[in-house]
Amino acid sequence: MLTSSGGSKQPSANICIVGGGKMGSALAGGILRSGVVSPEQLAIVESMSDRREVLTTLFPAEVLITGDIVSLERSVDSVILAVKPADIESACRGIAALDPLPSRMLSIVAGITIDRLQSSLRVDIPVIRSMPNTPALVGAGVSALAPSSKCTEEDILWAERILGAVGATVRLEEEYLDAVTGLSGSGPAYIFLVAEALVEGGVLVGLDRATAGTLVANTILGAARLWLETGEDPAALRAQVTSPGGTTAAGLSVLEQRAIRAAFQDAVQKATLRSRELGH
Ligand SMILES: NC(=O)c1ccc[n+]([C@@H]2O[C@H](COP(=O)([O-])OP(=O)(O)OC[C@H]3O[C@@H](n4cnc5c(N)ncnc54)[C@H](OP(=O)(O)O)[C@@H]3O)[C@@H](O)[C@H]2O)c1
Repeated sequence: MLTSSGGSKQPSANICIVGGGKMGSALAGGILRSGVVSPEQLAIVESMSDRREVLTTLFPAEVLITGDIVSLERSVDSVILAVKPADIESACRGIAALDPLPSRMLSIVAGITIDRLQSSLRVDIPVIRSMPNTPALVGAGVSALAPSSKCTEEDILWAERILGAVGATVRLEEEYLDAVTGLSGSGPAYIFLVAEALVEGGVLVGLDRATAGTLVANTILGAARLWLETGEDPAALRAQVTSPGGTTAAGLSVLEQRAIRAAFQDAVQKATLRSRELGH
């Protein structure tokens, strides 16, 4: 057990998640399920007592759930920062007060740069910044991660294991994280808009809404899996189902006439610009 006071500190594989909200608890569930960490090695610091009560029902009793990082009676090897952007100063103060200092920190806080995180910490902890997306909540996210120059390959591999427990990962320079925000960060909302429109289309041609929903959700899931599992280019996959003069060609011609490609390209560009504006 971890929580005994005054005892010797735990071995150095301990992970502490600061912020046990939606994303913090999704990450906790993912890393426990995938065995990246054992329950005894995981602590979650969550400031809201109501939320702490919920967390105790979600995770095994061996996971240490506390309201105050200063009360942790174990050494912490690695920290995952999962608080809202407005809370980073207080969270970083607590992390910087740990003794010994953690050897690395992974941040999933949207829009907060590595420089800002390092100056909020005021101590020398290698930082990896990442941008996950909401499907991480069901283990099907995709995260980009950007290491600071102080990170070792081992730090980056550790962060990839953490984020890999809730989906796919890509490694990028920090300068691309606004583009990631505009593409895969906002991307689920673009796809939900497409989903809503397709369901309406189904209703227009006589299907009931629930049936149309089942057809659309599984079409989106199936198309993504077909792409990932065959490794084929989306243009080739589209051509395969577009017979000359057929139904798909008739449907696609409407989308092309309405400039759907340009609309999506503009959406990604505009969201990227907005992310850049919010981060400065
Ligand atoms: N949701 C997403 O899909 C998504 C995607 C990409 C990135 N992110 C980023 O992930 C971060 C977390 O998002 P979320 O949706 O999980 O938010 P959330 O559900 O609000 O979780 C944040 C939690 O951290 C707690 N907290 C705040 N300050 C703390 C402190 N000093 N010590 C310990 N706990 C503290 C908050 O409690 P209080 O309510 O008391 O403040 C809250 O329960 C955000 O920065 C967001 O930008 C989220």
